[in-house]
Amino acid sequence: MADTPDTQQLQQLLDAALDARERAYAPYSKFRVGAAVLDEHGHVHAGCNVENAAYPQGLCAEGLALGAMVLAGGRRARALLVLGEGLAPVTPCGGCRQKLREFGAEDTPVLVADSRGVRLRTTLGALLPQAFGPDHLEAS
Ligand code: THU
Repeated sequence: MADTPDTQQLQQLLDAALDARERAYAPYSKFRVGAAVLDEHGHVHAGCNVENAAYPQGLCAEGLALGAMVLAGGRRARALLVLGEGLAPVTPCGGCRQKLREFGAEDTPVLVADSRGVRLRTTLGALLPQAFGPDHLEAS
């Protein structure tokens, strides 16, 4: 069962992702993204997208948030919130879904927000069904 974040933790995730989006480096797409992840210790880690003149080298916000979590000693993503720009909800890209799979589970909440708050609640399992994960390597 997912260890669902409470209202205060949701607010912390939203605030952290909003702050991170402000720091995004997105001179090429002009599309700023912020993300925040809640770890097993109750700590929140944020990331923003960091683009590059060699376009494919750009980094997504979710990947940076997960990297910050690992650097701080977190190993389990209890929830991830992503916040893009524009009207359409920005769900994590395919690569970021796979990155989240490493530290999350099928029932890990994925929250899609805009500046006003959470607009869509889904799970990693819904976004990445029948995912390949660390357990496959353990079984071999
Ligand atoms: N982007 C993210 O940071 N996360 C996603 O899940 C979707 C896309 C970034 C990558 C790029 O810097 C910009 O959004 C436009 O694609």
